[in-house]
Amino acid sequence: MSVPPLDGAALASALARPAIVGMTPQRYPDPSGLRLDLNTNLFGPNPAVAQVAAALAEGRLDLTQYPQSDAAGLRSAYAKHLHVGPEQLCFGNGSDEMIDLLFKAYVDPTEVVAWAVPTFSMYRFYATVAGARVVEASFGPSFSLPEEELLAARPKVLVLCSPNNPTGSAVATSQVYRLATLLRDRPTAEGGPGLLVLDEAYGEFGGAHHASSIAAHPNLVVLRTLSKAMGLAGARIGMAIADGAVMDRIAAVKPPFNLNEVSIALAHAALDHLPWVEQVAMTVVQERQWLAQQLQSRGYVVHPSSANFLLVRPPGEVDEVVRRLAAAGLVVRHFPHQPALAGHVRLTVPPREVGQRLLAVIDTMGGSDGR
Ligand SMILES: Cc1ncc(COP(=O)(O)O)c(C=O)c1O
Repeated sequence: MSVPPLDGAALASALARPAIVGMTPQRYPDPSGLRLDLNTNLFGPNPAVAQVAAALAEGRLDLTQYPQSDAAGLRSAYAKHLHVGPEQLCFGNGSDEMIDLLFKAYVDPTEVVAWAVPTFSMYRFYATVAGARVVEASFGPSFSLPEEELLAARPKVLVLCSPNNPTGSAVATSQVYRLATLLRDRPTAEGGPGLLVLDEAYGEFGGAHHASSIAAHPNLVVLRTLSKAMGLAGARIGMAIADGAVMDRIAAVKPPFNLNEVSIALAHAALDHLPWVEQVAMTVVQERQWLAQQLQSRGYVVHPSSANFLLVRPPGEVDEVVRRLAAAGLVVRHFPHQPALAGHVRLTVPPREVGQRLLAVIDTMGGSDGR
C-alpha cells in the first residue's frame, strides 16, 4: 500500500513526535530599546569581558581546537568557589540547558513534573519537549507555595524557583529542606523517590544559596547562572550542582563541547571579579528599594522582591504604561496571555538615572492619585 503524497505541513505533522505537534517555533520578538524585560544586569559589563577580549586579541585563546569536553578545569575552579566537589558540578549553555539535561536524565515521557505558577516558562517548555506530564499549581496568597497540591501530584521532579521569576518571592530554607526530605521519602507515582530542583538564578539578590546542603539532601539539584548578577547572559553559561552520583546521570546525557572556549574563558575570568558582582548585587538591592518606594508613591502595587526585578501593578491601563515606556525606549515585560498576571508589569531594576527616566515617563501619565 503506497503512502499518499503529502505537502510539507502534513508531512511534518505526520512525522513529528506527538509531544511536540502543538509546539510552534521559538521565535521571540526582539524589541529595540533598553531591555528592562529580561532580568539581566544593567550595570555595565563584567570586567571579565575586557580580560577575555585581550586574551583573544593577543592570540592567547586557541579557537582552532575543541574546548575540554566536560569543562573539567572550569568545574574545578567553581568547585573551590562553591565549596563543593568538581564531580558535583556540570556546566551548560545557560542554566536553560541544565533544565533540559535534567529532564532528559530523569524524566521519562508521562512521568510527572510539577511547579508553582506563575514561574519561569522554560520549565514547561523543556518538560513538554520531554513528553512529561506537567502539573502546575497556583501560588497561594502572597505567593506562598502550594505545597500540598504539589506533593499530591507525586512528582518525579519538583521545581522550585527561588527567588521566583516573575513574582520575586523566595522560598524559606526550612521549606526547601522539608520538601527535599518529603520527596525522597514519599513514593512518586512510579513508586520511587523524587528530585527537588532549586533554581537560584537570582540568588545573589536575596534568598539563600543551598549548594552546600546537597550532602544532607542528595535528591536536591541546585541551578545557578552567570546570566544575571554576573552580567554574562550573552555568553550562555549556567550550571547545576548536585550529589556526584546524581550528577553523573546528567553528565551522561550532556553533549560534549556544549560550552565553547570563549565562554569557558569568560567563566574563569568572572571568578577574578567577584567583588564587582557583589557590588552590583548590593547596588541592585538598594535601587530596588528606592524604585519600589517611588512606584508605590505613584499608586503602583509593588510585590516584595528578592530578585533584580519588580513585579508591579500600575494604577492605570497596563497596555498604555507598556506602550508609553516603549515609546521612550524602555522595554518592560507584561503578560497579556497569563490571566494570573493580568494588569502586571515586570521590570528589571536599573541604575538610578534609568529609574528616573522611567518615573518621568510615568509622571506624564494619569494615575489613581491624579499624577
Ligand atoms: C528563573 C530562571 N532560571 C533560569 C533562567 C535562564 O538563565 P540562563 O541564561 O542561564 O539560561 C532564567 C532566565 O531568565 C530565569 O529567569
